[in-house]
Amino acid sequence: MESVTVPKRKPIVGGNWKMNLHTAETTQLTETLVAGLNGTDEVDVIIYPPFPYLAHVGEIVADSTIRLGAQDFYHASNGAFTGEVSLSMLADLGVTTVLVGHSERRHVIGETDHLINAKLRAALEARLEVILCVGETIEQREHHQTDAINAAQTRYGLAGVTAQQMAQVTIAYEPVWAIGTGKTATPKDAEAAHRGIRATLATAFSDKTANAVRIQYGGSVKAQNAADLAAPEDVDGFLVGGASLKADEFVAIVKAAAS
Ligand code: PGA
Repeated sequence: MESVTVPKRKPIVGGNWKMNLHTAETTQLTETLVAGLNGTDEVDVIIYPPFPYLAHVGEIVADSTIRLGAQDFYHASNGAFTGEVSLSMLADLGVTTVLVGHSERRHVIGETDHLINAKLRAALEARLEVILCVGETIEQREHHQTDAINAAQTRYGLAGVTAQQMAQVTIAYEPVWAIGTGKTATPKDAEAAHRGIRATLATAFSDKTANAVRIQYGGSVKAQNAADLAAPEDVDGFLVGGASLKADEFVAIVKAAAS
């Protein structure tokens, strides 16, 4: 890479609740998070409740610095798509950020790189912020394919995206083997993967664009390992699953990302 001034990237921490919690727990968790995190401006904090609770959680976070995210959406603007939810419906509820390409959507639901790219571009056109998730399986890691998989998923996911639109994109590096397993990448492994992704972005766009993009780490992040994982230069925050369901854990993770 040519030498360019690296901008300071503001850490971004997301709480992906996945398919968990109901009204009472959702209310309590959100209210506790607002009490613990409102006013945090050193870190962008986003929570991703399940669809049925978006409006309710949105009302609780409305006057706070916590932002509302959606775990999924369909890329068409409206029409006969039974069961699907559009980007304009999400925006209507106050959603600012969407996840695309999460490992569970790729490997459990079967989303392809092609669909992921269509969704990502639709979200950018709808002026939402997008988190593109990438990451290798354990077999791919054992075959030393981590960088190649991350590069391919990053390139496919971002096909047709302009450098200007990259201001709306964050990448989440989430090794599949670390999600929900209690196993985490070491800070060194996370840093190596993030550097690889940044190099892919530099080739696809420019050093300047690559250096401005935030790359979150996800995969069994907890209060107890967050400070170590936040330390490397290329780790710009976290995407948290299981630990985001516990208010004290999530607050501690956000604080670790801030310091
Ligand atoms: P986990 O999930 O923190 O439970 O490993 C992370 C994610 O899937 O975003």
